[in-house]
Amino acid sequence: MLVRSLKTLPALLLLTVAFIASSCKHEPELPQNGTVDEICFESQVQPIINSNCAVSGCHDGSNHEMPVLITYNDILRKVKANKPNDSELLKVITKNPGSESYMPPSPRTPLTSDQIRLIETWILEGAKNTTCATTDCDSVNVTYSTTIAGIMSTYCTGCHGSVSPSAGLSLTSHGLVSGAISTKHLMDHVKNANGYSVMPPSGITLTQCSIAQLNKWISEGMQNN
Ligand code: HEC
Repeated sequence: MLVRSLKTLPALLLLTVAFIASSCKHEPELPQNGTVDEICFESQVQPIINSNCAVSGCHDGSNHEMPVLITYNDILRKVKANKPNDSELLKVITKNPGSESYMPPSPRTPLTSDQIRLIETWILEGAKNTTCATTDCDSVNVTYSTTIAGIMSTYCTGCHGSVSPSAGLSLTSHGLVSGAISTKHLMDHVKNANGYSVMPPSGITLTQCSIAQLNKWISEGMQNN
């Protein structure tokens, strides 16, 4: 009996060590297969942060007690390159939604898991100030679900979400977006046309690609496709 339990001891020890090691928090790793495109800060990360955080009264500079989150340098102050787990920006958006410092605070809509993963990957890739090649713009195969809804959630729904939206305008569904194009001059706002407040308001603009995609979808009758 004694011999037997002595034999199992190393195995038990190993298990304990393995358990302790696995409960430590490791930084996530980038996939190794080299197939991931580098995240583009300018068109993928910055608009999400601007639309969800740089909203009026929060991180847009109007409230002096809160850090501004508009430019690359503003955002970089809250990020540790390559280390998402040490990055305050990622910490606050991945906390338990009930906890005090969770961002964005209720009643604002939480970031989606895709948006969080995108920000995490961008940090893992070194949190670089990347601008993007315009060559891979697909302004031909444009649908509401694959293209337009994504543009809205990246650039607009942080403010124009479903809960207390800015200007009372929610842009979270096909009907609401096509309605705003028809009756609220949505395109004049995003193109910064004379007499219309520019959207998004925080200083970043939609890419030429996004505008071309919106134009294409409109020219095809704003289908719910
Ligand atoms: C940071 C918050 C914020 C973001 C992001 C934002 N908006 Fe706005 N939007 C506002 C506010 C505030 C108003 C009302 C004041 C004004 O018109 O400037 C407004 C007004 C509008 C209006 C006019 C509504 C009306 O009743 O006339 C449209 C259309 C609009 N936004 C579209 C958009 C679109 C499209 C996007 C994304 C490309 C966007 N907004 C992104 C805050 C935002």
